[in-house]
Amino acid sequence: MASTKWFSDARFGMFIHWGLYSNPAGVWKGVKIKHNYSEWLQASEHIPRAEYRELAKQFNPDSFDADEWISEAKRAGMKYFLITSKHHDGFALWPTKASGYNVADATPFGRDILGELADACQRHKVKLGFYYSHWQDWEGTGGDICSAHMENEEYIHPTEEEFQDYWQNKCLVQVQELIENYDPWFFWFDSWNKDSFDLITPERQDELISLVRKLSDKCLVNSRIQFLAPSEDVDYMSTMDNRFPDEGFPKPWETSGTLNHSWAYHSMDYGWKPTRELIKNLVKNVSLGGNYQLNVGPMGNGRFQKAAIKRLREIGAWMDVNGESVYETTTCPLGKMPWGRVTYRRLDENRTILYLHLWEYTPETAVCLDGASGNVIEARALETGQPIHVEPCEGGVLVRIPKALNPDSLPVIRLDMCEDGALPG
Ligand code: GLC
Repeated sequence: MASTKWFSDARFGMFIHWGLYSNPAGVWKGVKIKHNYSEWLQASEHIPRAEYRELAKQFNPDSFDADEWISEAKRAGMKYFLITSKHHDGFALWPTKASGYNVADATPFGRDILGELADACQRHKVKLGFYYSHWQDWEGTGGDICSAHMENEEYIHPTEEEFQDYWQNKCLVQVQELIENYDPWFFWFDSWNKDSFDLITPERQDELISLVRKLSDKCLVNSRIQFLAPSEDVDYMSTMDNRFPDEGFPKPWETSGTLNHSWAYHSMDYGWKPTRELIKNLVKNVSLGGNYQLNVGPMGNGRFQKAAIKRLREIGAWMDVNGESVYETTTCPLGKMPWGRVTYRRLDENRTILYLHLWEYTPETAVCLDGASGNVIEARALETGQPIHVEPCEGGVLVRIPKALNPDSLPVIRLDMCEDGALPG
């Protein structure tokens, strides 16, 4: 099996939803679409296939600059990057031979978007992965449709034969191309409920995973290949959208989350999450051994919205001073505390570091690190280096919070501990 170490060490990645739907951006014929996710346009508005395909003629993102996207991800502290190579609408962001419905053959833009991103990732040493919609495909070549949204004569569930045709001649061919052309580090396949059981059978899961394994010795596969019944062979678990669990998983895992509500750019989605919340989401998962893949929906012209850039840069500023409490940490037995979270790094047999993420506290009081024992060698605030006074207390360690530690900055205190029981067990 491919190694997942890089994935767990990385902890933080950028997700991108981008495609034909990014031009209408959540508005169809002057009206806000029904579905919250703008990439669901075709299904939400029951748009006939021929009409939807016309969007390809408008896809000409002349401000797209792969270097800019990857630099923005890097500046935010993200170590990897994934993009919708093909979302449910079936349109491919690379020149695939399996269907003319792709950026090179069907749009005036004509450039290989994935190729440019793969080069930029190489240059910036960011690991590249692909979202690929293996189950839903609304192009009309036999992929499944979502009956909850598509009560329209043109959209009917494929027969087994039709789906098999799609599977052999589009899905598997495209996954092979993606690996051979761009050598990705991971795939993010997508399913979410039992509607996928009939078509994404255990045999098809195995077939897809075997293909990935045959062509790549590093490429990872996620559990949303069949969300409710993933094969034992998947490499990492994906939660449902924006779900931050209270417990970790036995395998590496991640939550993919949005900056506002929609994944793809939505011009009328104003519900931007505050940066604080986004940083806390990251730390919550990290304290439980999980990753966070934060999504950006670039606009139809290829640029990120200002509200997205602002948040990414604020996160980046926090990561600049506190990143060591995130990367290369492992599940922390003390994870959740009434005042925040604890992340954990083992340096060697005798030394560990605990990072105290303080979210709810009053300066000049003290918080108790319940369950920690052992010797604190040093305690400092990560951002400022200010020494912190700690003392043993009943059942743990008492940490006195200085006046200067500003709660708004989501401060982190680093405790260097030496053995003789820095942690329970
Ligand atoms: C859901 C949606 C999809 C989005 C994905 C990301 O499955 O169908 O639009 O890409 O979640 O988690």
